[in-house]
Amino acid sequence: MPLPPFESSAIDAYPAKSDWDAVSTELFDTVLAEWELSEPEMLDAGEGGVVARVTRPDGLRAVLKVGFPHIEAVWEAAVLDALPDDLAPAVYRVDPWRWATLMESIEPGVPLVRAGLPFDHSLEIAGGLHRRLTACPVPYTDVDRLDDQLTYFLRRALVSLDVHAEAARRHGVPSDRVRDALREGLDLTSARTGTALIHGDFNPGNLISSGDDWRIIDIKPLVGDPAFDLQPLVRDLADRISRDDADLLRRGVVVAARAMGCDPVRAARWARVRAALNVSWCLDDLDAAQAVVEARHLACWDRVAEGLSSAA
Ligand SMILES: Nc1ncnc2c1ncn2[C@@H]1O[C@H](COP(=O)(O)OP(=O)(O)O)[C@@H](O)[C@H]1O
Ligand SMILES: [Mg+2]
Repeated sequence: MPLPPFESSAIDAYPAKSDWDAVSTELFDTVLAEWELSEPEMLDAGEGGVVARVTRPDGLRAVLKVGFPHIEAVWEAAVLDALPDDLAPAVYRVDPWRWATLMESIEPGVPLVRAGLPFDHSLEIAGGLHRRLTACPVPYTDVDRLDDQLTYFLRRALVSLDVHAEAARRHGVPSDRVRDALREGLDLTSARTGTALIHGDFNPGNLISSGDDWRIIDIKPLVGDPAFDLQPLVRDLADRISRDDADLLRRGVVVAARAMGCDPVRAARWARVRAALNVSWCLDDLDAAQAVVEARHLACWDRVAEGLSSAA
């Protein structure tokens, strides 16, 4: 039977991440007790929730994720469940109100970003997984379109850039460059390209090893242009070698786009947009120092996009 999405009303219950952080341990312990899970062994989760390996009553090891309720994650468990088991972990149980998922424990589960593999090889592994993902049918008609979701975020970011104009100027964050990339995002979304199931957060921490193969986790499913997914993959793998190195990013885009079967120029254009959104979110968080770091990164993506489009 198809799984329901996570209950959206939980998003309203926790207006800020700090509200949810304050109750996350209690939520996690409640699910643990209710589902009779034991021996929790915490895994290294990011901002997305509390994640642990646990033991089910029948003795099987599994992974419990209690996620922070936010709009991009509403379909996470339902879509993971709909994907083939050789592509994503099997889902055993879901609590849509508490945003809790009990799923197959992938072993050894080493994230691609920490696997120590060569840059190009890592990109090829990821590209192969991405091709398999985007070839899957979209399992639910209600999954958000990338274009709709992003248009909303881009419009908000353009407004907030004006709100933070003075702080940006004081700290040397180049608002014009950011605005230009956000507007390019509106161009890309208005073209409404692509109808594939895409990952939404295709960073190499969300690709984990399973014996000789790899699995996708932590999906923030969207329907849209596969080239959108490339930026976090290339950024995080390139970061392991050298930070803000436009030549390395450019090579990463070419290799990853070939492996994913998408257009490198579009991928680089999306990368600029995503980098600009990161700058704007840092300004929203009043973190000017990080906004400067993200703006430097955006400047690199600008160079990559320029270089690739003039070579095309
Ligand atoms: N099914 C799983 N099997 C094995 N390890 C997992 C599984 N799900 C998550 N993990 C581990 O937990 C980490 C955090 O999980 P993730 O779903 O990516 O949370 P976040 O949203 O916080 O990034 C992953 O990077 C991975 O190391
Ligand atoms: Mg993750």
